[in-house]
Amino acid sequence: MTQIHRGLAGVVVDTTGISTVVTETNSLTYRGYPVQDLAASRSFEEVAHLLWYGELPTTTQLRELEARERALRPLDRAAAEIVARLPATCHPMDVLRTVISYLGTQDLTEDDGSLAANRAKSLALLARLPTVVAADQRRRRRLDPIPPDPSLGLAENFFHMCFGAVPAPEVVRCFEISLILYAEHSFNASTFTARVVTSTLSDLYSAVTAAVGALKGPLHGGANEAVMHTLNEIGEPERVGAWLDRALAEKRKIMGFGHRVYKHGDSRVPIMSQALGRLVAVSDDPRAVRLAELHAALEKAVFDRKGIHPNLDYPAGLAYHLMGFDIPLFTPIFVMSRITGWTAHIAEQLQANVLIRPLGTYTGPAQRDLPVAGRA
Ligand code: CMC
Repeated sequence: MTQIHRGLAGVVVDTTGISTVVTETNSLTYRGYPVQDLAASRSFEEVAHLLWYGELPTTTQLRELEARERALRPLDRAAAEIVARLPATCHPMDVLRTVISYLGTQDLTEDDGSLAANRAKSLALLARLPTVVAADQRRRRRLDPIPPDPSLGLAENFFHMCFGAVPAPEVVRCFEISLILYAEHSFNASTFTARVVTSTLSDLYSAVTAAVGALKGPLHGGANEAVMHTLNEIGEPERVGAWLDRALAEKRKIMGFGHRVYKHGDSRVPIMSQALGRLVAVSDDPRAVRLAELHAALEKAVFDRKGIHPNLDYPAGLAYHLMGFDIPLFTPIFVMSRITGWTAHIAEQLQANVLIRPLGTYTGPAQRDLPVAGRA
C-alpha cells in the first residue's frame, strides 16, 4: 500500500547547503555558522551575504553590498502610488505581495535565471521591501512616507522610515537579531513554495510573490501577529490560567507555540528571548513589564499543560510590539528578513533544478460513464 506523508512531514525532498538544524546540539546553522554566534556579533547585511554567497563578506565586500543596498532603497513613483492607493482594509502582506509583483514588471535586469541576474534582483528586493513596509505603516497612520536615509544601515533606516527617528542601540540591535534569526530556516513552507515555483523555471519575482502568500498564514509567519493578539486578548498575567483552560477546551492552537521540526524547543528562542529581555529593560512603554510577565506566564502555563515549547514568533511578536510597530506589520518584517533565505534557495534550486511534482492518492469516484447530454 502506498504510504502517504500528509503535510510532507518527515519527507526529505532535496539536499541544501544553506542551513540546517543540528539535532544533537539543537542549533540552527547558516552555511555552517551557528545562528547564535551570528546574532551575537554580525550585522544582518553580513548574514545576507553569507546566505547568498556562502561565505561572510570581507570588509570590502561588505562595504560594496551596503553601498548597493542603500542606493537601491527608493521606490519609483508608481510603486509608491500602489502602496498609497491600495485599500487600508487589506493586510500589509497583501500590499507587499502586490508591490513585489509590480516590481517584477519594472526590473530590466536580464531575466535569464543566471546567478548574477538573480543576485541583482535579490539585492533590489532586500533594499526596497523595508521602504514598502514603512510607507504602508505610515499611510495607515495617515502620515506621509519618509524617504530612506543612505547614511543609515538597513535596520536603523527602517526605524527612521517608520518613525522619523532611530531608537536606542539596544532596540535596534534587538530588531537586527530578529532579522538574523528569521533570515533562513531550510525547507519551511514559504521557502518550499519558492522552490516549487522556481522548479518550473518561472522567475524570481513569481517565486517570491508566492512565498509571501505562504508566509502570511497563521500556521507559518502570521503567527508572530497572532501572538500579540493573544497577549492582548488575555490582558493580564493573572488571567493566563483561565484563558488557557478555555482555549484548550475549545481545541484552539496557541499561537507562537509548537514546531514541525523542533520537538524539544526552537533553538532560536533563547537568543530572541534574551534580546527581548534587554528590550523590556529599556522600553518606555508603560505596559512593557506587565506584558513581559504575561508573556512569561503563558509560556510556563502552555509548557506545564501541554509540554509544548514556544517558537521564534513568540518572543518576536512581543518584541515588535514594544518597538512600536503596528501588529499587521510583524509578518511583513519577517518577509524583509526571509527574502534572503528565499532568494538563496531560489539560486540553489536553479543550480541543480528538477521539477517538483509530487503525487496524490486518488480517493474520488471510480471511473464511470458520462450521462447522456440533456438527461437529468
Ligand atoms: N497549541 C496547542 N496544541 C498544539 C500546538 C499549539 N500551538 N502545536 C501543536 N499542538 C498539538 C496538536 O494539537 C497536536 O496534538 P494532538 O496530537 O493531541 O492532536 C500535537 O501538538 C501535534 O501538533 P501538529 O499540529 O500535528 O504538529 P505539526 O507539526 O503539524 O504543526 C505547527 C506544527 C507549527 C503548525 C503547530 O505547532 C501550530 O499550529 N502552532 C501554532 C502556530 C505557530 O506558532 N506557527 C509558527 C510556526 S514556527 C515559525 C514559522 O514558521 O513562522
